[in-house]
Amino acid sequence: MELLDGKRIADEIKAEIAAEVEAIKSKGGKIPHLVAILIGHNGASETYVGHKEKACAQVGFKSQVLRFEDTITEAQLLNEIKKLNDDPDVDGFIVQMPLPKHIDEQKVIEAIDPKKDVDGFHPVNVGRMNIGLPAYVSATPDGIVELLRRYKIPTEGKHCVVLGRSNIVGRPIANLLSQKGYPGDCTVTICHSRTPNIKDHTLQADILIVALGKAEFVTADMVKPGAVVIDVGITRVDAPGTKSGWRLLGDVKFDEVAPKCSYITPVPGGVGPLTIVSLLKNTLKAAKKEVYG
Ligand code: GUN
Repeated sequence: MELLDGKRIADEIKAEIAAEVEAIKSKGGKIPHLVAILIGHNGASETYVGHKEKACAQVGFKSQVLRFEDTITEAQLLNEIKKLNDDPDVDGFIVQMPLPKHIDEQKVIEAIDPKKDVDGFHPVNVGRMNIGLPAYVSATPDGIVELLRRYKIPTEGKHCVVLGRSNIVGRPIANLLSQKGYPGDCTVTICHSRTPNIKDHTLQADILIVALGKAEFVTADMVKPGAVVIDVGITRVDAPGTKSGWRLLGDVKFDEVAPKCSYITPVPGGVGPLTIVSLLKNTLKAAKKEVYG
């Protein structure tokens, strides 16, 4: 069993991006510039945006956080988005989710210029990705693909079972791994909350991707010996006696599943660190006008 060390791969890719930014600088080119809009005071959102700012600094990007109180109206937010769409100095931006209830998230996503949608949430990017055109791919599926690629895990002809059908993980990763080329050419099955006898499916998986948001859902009896297991779950559970008072659990019961696997991601330190790297990759692509020209 080998651990898929997302932290190590993330550091490796960040170093590659930092070197590319240095090269751009030395040629007098434009430094990539990412903006994050953060609304309200959601603890998890503050943490994520903090990590994104830190990662930008590590690779030499320009970054900026625009903060608004959760009293901002939808019209005001749409106007801020328009300003960023029109600002030639901004290569890419994100609106950190979730948004306050009085704001329509889908409307906000669709207001972002697809050329600057480095989260890859706009239907134009989702659609382009689905038919294999250059696109900004959203962070988690891109992170999974990067992990498979960097560990040179064979995918051609493999049966990949995806647990979860969300728009931001299950569906896009199932699509990407069924596409032609590497890492792809998989036979893909998607299971979800209405799938009977999930174990019958998971036992067939050469590659098992779990994105249900149900702590420790996958147990050892559900996994084929030698499988590659990618765990996207992160659930906070109380852990009295620890410094923070909580710890993170994945969707896979790690201790009993790990010994059966050829490869498995730890939680934390698996897919998570690569999601921020995907945002950096997309911002670099935006600055280089690689996707839309
Ligand atoms: N909230 C949780 N994850 C994400 C993400 O990847 N992008 C944005 N914009 N909001 C999030």
